[in-house]
Amino acid sequence: MKRTYLDYNATTPLDPRVLEAMRPYLTTIFANASSFHRAGQEARHGVERAREQVASELGVEPGDVVFTSGGTESDNLALKGVLAGAQGNRRGLVVSAIEHQAVLHPAQRLAVSGVPVRVVPCGPDGRVDLGRLAEAVDDTTLLVSLMHANNETGVLQPVREAARLAHERGAYLHCDAVQTYGKLPLDPSADGIDLLTLSAHKICGPKGAGALYVRKGIKISAQLQGGHQEKNVRPGTENVAALVGLGEATVLAAAERSAETGRVRALRDGLWRDLRSRLDGVRLNGQVAERLYNTLNVSFEGIDGETLLMNLDLEGICVSTGSACTAGSVEPSHVLLAMGLDERTARSTIRISLGRWTTAEETAQAAGAVASVVKRLRTRATGAGK
Ligand SMILES: Cc1ncc(COP(=O)(O)O)c(C=O)c1O
Repeated sequence: MKRTYLDYNATTPLDPRVLEAMRPYLTTIFANASSFHRAGQEARHGVERAREQVASELGVEPGDVVFTSGGTESDNLALKGVLAGAQGNRRGLVVSAIEHQAVLHPAQRLAVSGVPVRVVPCGPDGRVDLGRLAEAVDDTTLLVSLMHANNETGVLQPVREAARLAHERGAYLHCDAVQTYGKLPLDPSADGIDLLTLSAHKICGPKGAGALYVRKGIKISAQLQGGHQEKNVRPGTENVAALVGLGEATVLAAAERSAETGRVRALRDGLWRDLRSRLDGVRLNGQVAERLYNTLNVSFEGIDGETLLMNLDLEGICVSTGSACTAGSVEPSHVLLAMGLDERTARSTIRISLGRWTTAEETAQAAGAVASVVKRLRTRATGAGK
């Protein structure tokens, strides 16, 4: 059976051109990038070129880019690493309620260890509530963390306004840009972003590679102890091939961004129109806000999202739900609940995310499959069709 992959926000296929760039570093250029011999220096060259490629995409100095194992590690390093340097009264953390677990869970851990943590709600449009953010950030706040685009809804967050607000009160702004890095142009200096998280595997690069941009002058403590790599901020022998892959994936994403954005947006919007015309009782979450061009988050009245997902999987179509498996039970998406959806509607939702290799045939096939599965499930439940 042909497989239709529509889960690009979870991860992406590795671009063959990225694999080619990585290949020498998986075979002949295998030395440790910290070794002084020539073989080591060849590996070092790969790492530093990747750092320049990432820095150039962000318009920052290469020396301000810390390589990590991906978005989760970068988020942990940003939050824990900055708060470890808290002094005096300024030791608070403010996060939005719709952050990824890679921010929410370290925030919970910090709260347990005594850090005052405030969680700011979002509005029904899926954007963080700036009024509530303004109330939450004060002169005891050291760091505010707000993502760029939400991974479930694709809703873009008012990062620039949040940064202004944080700076007015003397706090730093960290932005988890895992879903937008490479897809949208990013400019930390213009947007006032002090720390920025990015990851390779959402832009057709390898898994297990990412970075944290840290604006010069910000004190950040290593969360691992070991060697002197990454200026002592992130010890451990560099994953040279994966970092080379991150650099190459960045260059390709930037070069193809405008063409890919238009093509994928058209497919995504066509898919939504198709679904809406075939089915009643569908709701596009985050519709009123500006959204990432590849994401559709749709609730289907009377349908269980997990059941829909499994039925689509039987037809070879890969999508996801925002629910999380906690202690053996499936919890509805914290993002949709924060937007004010009731639990039943949140549970009736799937995320469809498109990308570089998605075709019009695939979106047409997906629309047909979703419509027929939803009709079948509804008929089974109530006897009613469309
Ligand atoms: C918004 C966001 N932050 C962080 C992460 C974690 O990144 P990684 O998978 O590279 O650890 C993800 C991955 O889904 C994400 O979507």
